[in-house]
Amino acid sequence: MKKILVTGGLGYIGSHTVVELQAEGYDVLVVDNLSNSKEEVKARIEDISGQSLELQIADINDTNALESLFSKHQFDGVIHFAAHKAVGESVEHPVMYYQNNVSGLISLLGTMEKYGVSNLIFSSSCTVYGAATDLPVTESTQIQKAESPYGTTKILGEEIINDFAKHKGFKSILLRYFNPVGAHPSAKIGELPLGVPNNLIPYITQTAAGIREKLTVFGDDYNTEDGTCVRDYIHVVDLAKAHVKALSYCDKMSQNVDVFNVGTGKGNTVLEVINTFEKVNGVKLNYTIGSRRGGDIEQIYADTTKVNNLLGWSAKYGIADMMKHAWAWQQGLSD
Ligand code: NAD
Ligand code: UFG
Repeated sequence: MKKILVTGGLGYIGSHTVVELQAEGYDVLVVDNLSNSKEEVKARIEDISGQSLELQIADINDTNALESLFSKHQFDGVIHFAAHKAVGESVEHPVMYYQNNVSGLISLLGTMEKYGVSNLIFSSSCTVYGAATDLPVTESTQIQKAESPYGTTKILGEEIINDFAKHKGFKSILLRYFNPVGAHPSAKIGELPLGVPNNLIPYITQTAAGIREKLTVFGDDYNTEDGTCVRDYIHVVDLAKAHVKALSYCDKMSQNVDVFNVGTGKGNTVLEVINTFEKVNGVKLNYTIGSRRGGDIEQIYADTTKVNNLLGWSAKYGIADMMKHAWAWQQGLSD
């Protein structure tokens, strides 16, 4: 049985990935410092998978704690989710973002090197493409200077891994996520809300639940079908499954690093998302059209040819499932 270390495995994408790894017969150990998750997620994961999960509460910047884990366990690979992810917060606290996201990665890589562990799956983002003009974006679309320190940490992370892998004969896959949304169909795990959400789907579900008075659509004067921005929303369970595929591909790939877009390949406007949410859940949303949000790009969606062909992965869930599962998760939270 292969043993995988999952950093940030109690978080939103990490918890769903642990469920999929356990279902595929991997032995998983999670390291998480609970900075954006709760310890109870471990029991929820175990409830879904019917298997016990090893958890070490520690910070990946704590190299002693990491070394203690690597000396006790022989890992066959690492999936690295642990990072801060709020774009606005990164503008206010750039050093905190570089410390956690970049130094944390360096601490992890150093420990992997010391203990001879290869095979790293890294959480990157479509944010590296900036406001790409040619759509859909492929993996060879030009990377652009990031709009925020958060975005820069993803570009730097990719660069650091490229250098490290090339010189150390180490294998890594960079997954560029588009917009992860939804929750596990069991409604036992999902995204934990922290304060007022910035992202569209938690804002929609909290408005529907009466936690927020109304949703503001940020601009309807973009050059898109209905004037609102287009994104490639990807169900978190589909995204989780892509990590399992990436792990087995890592073992057999000839080059040191490869990169994949992970999206559905289909763009949806903000109004399409709202209309779908209302229709599949039979809930009316209170929303108004407001002005554009600074820093938003007009539209982006993925070319998924590479991930489809090489990883043998494609998204199974559509936007209706994403909205149904996001609402079921929200209702569980409001109980
Ligand atoms: P999340 O905040 O839900 O999960 C991150 C987990 O890592 C949390 O459980 C947190 O407690 C833990 N963590 C953070 N810093 C840590 C540290 N120093 N040591 C140990 N644990 C630490 O975030 P998520 O949405 O699951 O995102 C996972 C990864 O995917 C992140 O790297 C994020 O940047 C990336 N990503 C997310 C999105 C998105 O929209 N959610 C999009 C693209 C990329
Ligand atoms: N939106 C609204 N109202 C809201 C929230 C969002 O209209 O209350 C719109 C946004 O303007 C955007 C769309 O919904 O058009 C999606 O917005 P999100 O904030 O959910 O997602 P973004 O695409 O802006 O951000 C995502 C990730 C970031 C990442 C960024 C890179 O959440 O981590 O993509 O493009 F940096």
